[in-house]
Amino acid sequence: MKILVINGPNINMLGVREPEIYGNITLADIEKELGSLAKELKTDIEFFQSNYEGEIVDKIQQSLGKISGIIINPAAYTHTSIAIRDALSAVAAPSIEVHISNVYAREEFRHSSFTAGVCVGQITGFGIDGYLFALRKLVKILG
Ligand code: DQA
Repeated sequence: MKILVINGPNINMLGVREPEIYGNITLADIEKELGSLAKELKTDIEFFQSNYEGEIVDKIQQSLGKISGIIINPAAYTHTSIAIRDALSAVAAPSIEVHISNVYAREEFRHSSFTAGVCVGQITGFGIDGYLFALRKLVKILG
């Protein structure tokens, strides 16, 4: 079993970026904790972050047949990207959408997601714990 974790634009800025919203965790912290949990759950895990929509689409396409499930925080592309939604649909691996902040408690433009509808579920507002729960849940779903 192999899980792909995709983080979208500006997630590489965690730790510096708006700490009052995102806290002080960094992307490296998230990947480290997910790596430890993956070991515990005996699953392989791969990490990918990009600030470019097309690179995220390419990565999802390239994962076809190579990965069992996807954890994705599309970041701002959540609210704009039909292309990322279509790529997730095309690959059809069970996916879980994660947001660090509670997008529904923020600006209205963050209340809609193009990607959540093609995911098994969405986790929003629980910081790093959202990623960890997503990993446990995906491993359970994949059996
Ligand atoms: C985010 C929420 C998005 O609205 C925002 O554009 C991000 C991060 C989150 O994890 O809370 O970049 O996906």
